[in-house]
Amino acid sequence: METILTGVRINDEPTLGNFLGAILPMTRLAEKYHRTHKINVFVPDLHSIISDIDGEMSQNILRGLKYYYAAGLPTSDNILLYRQSYVPAHSELTWILNCIATMGEMGRMIQYKEKSEGGRDSANVAIFDYPVLMAADILLYSAKYVPVGEDQFQHLELTRDLALRFNNRFGEVFTLPSTTAEQAEFMGLSSGLRIRDLQNPEKKMSKSNPNANAKILLSDPPEVAYKKIMSATTDSLGKIDYDMFNQPGISNLLQILALLTNTTLDDVTARWAGEDSYGVFKQTVATVVADFLTDFQAKYNSVPDSVISKQLERGQIAANQIAEAKLLEVQQAVGLR
Ligand code: TRP
Repeated sequence: METILTGVRINDEPTLGNFLGAILPMTRLAEKYHRTHKINVFVPDLHSIISDIDGEMSQNILRGLKYYYAAGLPTSDNILLYRQSYVPAHSELTWILNCIATMGEMGRMIQYKEKSEGGRDSANVAIFDYPVLMAADILLYSAKYVPVGEDQFQHLELTRDLALRFNNRFGEVFTLPSTTAEQAEFMGLSSGLRIRDLQNPEKKMSKSNPNANAKILLSDPPEVAYKKIMSATTDSLGKIDYDMFNQPGISNLLQILALLTNTTLDDVTARWAGEDSYGVFKQTVATVVADFLTDFQAKYNSVPDSVISKQLERGQIAANQIAEAKLLEVQQAVGLR
């Protein structure tokens, strides 16, 4: 069986945007493939501490993972759930790969360049090196498919480059993940989706926006969320069409409606074509959002903590076995064993 590997970011208070852009696509992917593929769902906690060392992280992760089970992540023998820091082979392989990665290629990583714009001298070393850790996350499990947003494509290419370089020098140890083009074809185009800010739909919906009306939190009371949708910024064009450029507010609501009703954007747009009442349209979206929250919050409250700790325990044991076996191959190939 081929392996699909996905890193899940934990948000302690996810927005509807986090849910529709990350949590839901991930759970649908797992639902779709868990009978035919191995699926590694891991929490990149060593990545998280690069930007913020938070003493509460371990507890936050347990709470954060609940959102995935409430969204419908299946429990299956083929799905392994684990935290990166519980599998020491990730750090060990990072070090070995550091010895074949070059300063030149690492310095070309766009994300590093952007994040260190405030000053290279004060940026931490981890920001520079983290794509190598990401390569280790992937290569230890011989993952073929790694669904990520476009901002991560360059890191996937780096992973392939490092694996190929290693294999050429030390023998066929690593399986290369598919090219980003192959991955996009396999997964469809669900990744990279951005739900917009309700008050300013030019921007993405962000948890850190102080304006409560701009965002819907998964913990919002349904009637509050209803009002937020009703007061969302639209336009004065008087037509309901998907046109992110001229009608970002209406387009955002169409997107939300499509995802929550599990319909394609084309179908939803066709359904509303020719209608001109923004009021009726907003009421429809607001009702769907409120009903979704009612249902989701009930599910969230019914996920027992023990489901998560059990899955993590099982995942951790299995992940360590796979990762240690691969690490040993690497150590033997380079002569450390
Ligand atoms: N770098 C990814 C992000 O910022 C998260 C991540 C870390 C990841 N390691 C990974 C994703 C391995 C896929 C595979 O979103």
